[in-house]
Amino acid sequence: CKKNTEMMAEPLDDWTLVCPLSDVTDTNRKRVKMDDRDIIIIKTNTNLYALDSFCYHAGGPLYIGDIEDFGGKTCIVCPWHKYKVAIDRGEMVYQSCDPHNPSKPVVWKSSGIKQRTHAVKVKDGNVYVRFTECTGKVPSDQYNNKEYRERLGLS
Ligand code: FES
Repeated sequence: CKKNTEMMAEPLDDWTLVCPLSDVTDTNRKRVKMDDRDIIIIKTNTNLYALDSFCYHAGGPLYIGDIEDFGGKTCIVCPWHKYKVAIDRGEMVYQSCDPHNPSKPVVWKSSGIKQRTHAVKVKDGNVYVRFTECTGKVPSDQYNNKEYRERLGLS
């Protein structure tokens, strides 16, 4: 994947205006639609991120999860089963220990990219998103479309 925050100088041809930056206020996040895609914009002290709203694991409402740091990565924690997703690349992170060697320290590991992230940038006070350039399927693809929202009775 390309880095998800782009420089502002490039043209906006393949970018979609999703909302004014001033809308990203509710706990520093805003759920938006880009075509049929359901995307959450997250603002931290240093950056802006865009990733699929519904959790790759079982379609939970990842977009309302708490944001915390785990193993040096800023993650959003799914309220359904507490999976932790790094907001920059969409990796699922977890704690790993060696049951055969309890003295070995517990470490944080990544199980790879599970949640699709998207390129995001701000221009003239508006937030623009560009669909990620990751090739192939990402597990969160199955839950972030109109069909899934309709199944849940959401708009
Ligand atoms: Fe998100 Fe299970 S649905 S952790």
